[in-house]
Amino acid sequence: MKYSPEHVGIIMDGNGRWATKRGLPRMMGHNAGVKRLIKILPYIYERGVKCVSLYAFSTENKFRPAEEVDNLMKLLSKNLQKLSDEIADKDIKFSVMGDTDFLPSDVRETIKALTEQTKHKQGGYLNVALNYGAQDEILRAVNLAVKKRKELNKQEFSELLYTAGLPALDLIIRTGGEKRLSNFMLYQAAYAELYFTDILWPDFTEKEVDKALDFYEKRNRRFGRVD
Ligand code: IPE
Ligand code: IPE
Ligand code: MG
Repeated sequence: MKYSPEHVGIIMDGNGRWATKRGLPRMMGHNAGVKRLIKILPYIYERGVKCVSLYAFSTENKFRPAEEVDNLMKLLSKNLQKLSDEIADKDIKFSVMGDTDFLPSDVRETIKALTEQTKHKQGGYLNVALNYGAQDEILRAVNLAVKKRKELNKQEFSELLYTAGLPALDLIIRTGGEKRLSNFMLYQAAYAELYFTDILWPDFTEKEVDKALDFYEKRNRRFGRVD
C-alpha cells in the first residue's frame, strides 16, 4: 500500500512559457493548463490524496497586463463548473481561499453555489486559491484575532485561516522550474515537503503525479524530532 499525503498544495506554474515555446499566445498555455488539471485531478484523488489546494490566481497576478487578467477570469468562469462536474461523483467538498471581491460576479455566484452544494460532502476536499496571497491570509487572521480581543493559541489561530477545517498540508508541488513559494500557503507550509519540477504545468501528466507522490513517500518526516 502506497503512503499518500493527505493534503497536497499545487503551484501550477509554467503555462505562459509552455505557450511561448510553441510560438502561441500565453492564453493558449492557460487553456492547456486548465485542460490538464481537469484530466489529472481525479487521478490525484485516486492515488489516495484527500485534499487538494490549487494555486490558480495570486494577489500579485492581478498586476499582469489587464488583457491577461481579463482572459484568465473568463477562463475561470468557463471552467469552474466543469471542474466541479469532474469531481461531482467523488463526494468532494469545494472551497475557495482568497479575496473573492476582486472576482467577476458570475464567478462569485458559481463559487457560492458550489460551496453550498458540496458543504456536507466528506469524501475529500478541493480548495482553490483565487486572488490568494499567504501574507494577506495571515494578516486577515491577525486582524480577526485582534477583534476578538483575546490571546489565541495555535489551534485557535489556525481556525482563522482560509484552511480552517482542512487537513494539515503535507506536500507542495511546484511545476515550471522555480524554487520558491510565491506567497502560497506560507503558514501551512511550516512542515510540508516541497517538490519542485521543471515540467511546465500543461505537461504535468499522471506519470508526473506519480513522481511527486513517490518523492513524498521517500521522505522521512521528523518534525524536529530524532527518529
Ligand atoms: C501559472 O502560469 C498560471 C498563473 C499564474 C495564472 P504562468 O502564467 O505564471 O506561466 P509562466 O510562469 O509565465 O510560464
Ligand atoms: C504563482 O506563479 C502563482 C500561480 C501559479 C497561480 P507566478 O508565475 O505568479 O509566480 P512568480 O511570479 O514566478 O513568483
Ligand atoms: Mg509563472
